[in-house]
Amino acid sequence: MSALIATGITRRYSGFNALEDVNFSLAAGERRALIGPNGAGKSTLFDILGGQREPSSGTITFDGQDITRQPAHQRALNGLARTFQRNNLCQALSVLENIRLAVQAHGKAKHDLMRHAKAHTAIVERAEQVLENMSMSSLAMRRAGELSYGDQRKLEIAMAIASEPRVLMVDEPTAGMSPAETAEMVAVMQNLPRSMSLLIVEHDMDVVAALADRTTVLQNGIVIAEGSWDDVRNSEVVQRAYIGGQRTP
Ligand SMILES: Nc1ncnc2c1ncn2[C@@H]1O[C@H](COP(=O)(O)OP(=O)(O)OP(=O)(O)O)[C@@H](O)[C@H]1O
Ligand SMILES: [Mg+2]
Repeated sequence: MSALIATGITRRYSGFNALEDVNFSLAAGERRALIGPNGAGKSTLFDILGGQREPSSGTITFDGQDITRQPAHQRALNGLARTFQRNNLCQALSVLENIRLAVQAHGKAKHDLMRHAKAHTAIVERAEQVLENMSMSSLAMRRAGELSYGDQRKLEIAMAIASEPRVLMVDEPTAGMSPAETAEMVAVMQNLPRSMSLLIVEHDMDVVAALADRTTVLQNGIVIAEGSWDDVRNSEVVQRAYIGGQRTP
């Protein structure tokens, strides 16, 4: 069953279409990479799926519900989580406190736990569990602002996971990371439960090859290829799209 479906998405800017009649669907539990040369429309599609931008036309459904006009925070409460290229952390708070806030912001925790006397303990326990799953327990008491760049990006993903989303969208998870940090990030994402679908925008083709079940390629706002990494990598259309660009698949 498809978790997230975009149908006929077009996004017009004055004089051109950043996206043109894009059809895209992400199955439950699937891991998908979205790639394409600079300016292809990847971030625009990401924002439209996440609710940060509206399409000029087209519809988006999530678990069968039309969410085309639903605000981003409502989508997040319903299980569509995303991280941003720019850091979204409370730098002055500890790693554990950042996760605790993310757990608390989640709808289920609000309704089921907050009323009870043990609410605080339950939330902290959940936050500790998330940290353990991410192999970040040793960093729990460190201030977020003191972490390395790679650990800050990992913390952002931990915060998104804290809400137990059904779809996790991550924007360039390895951008600016060292090879060691990149390898760690790939391991973190490989260990995510399959109850969660994963959609990443990624420029590092080794990361795409390691993580994605399928890859979607955008060029000039149009989906030019979609399939397994081998199919996409060997596609003439895709190879042509990258000729002259800075990056090759
Ligand atoms: N607010 C805007 N107004 C006008 N044009 C825009 C706007 N936002 C994006 N664009 C244009 O839309 C096209 C797609 O941009 P987008 O940022 O989605 O590309 P991208 O695939 O994410 O590229 P990159 O790999 O460089 O991040 C580009 O030509 C961009 O200049
Ligand atoms: Mg972009």
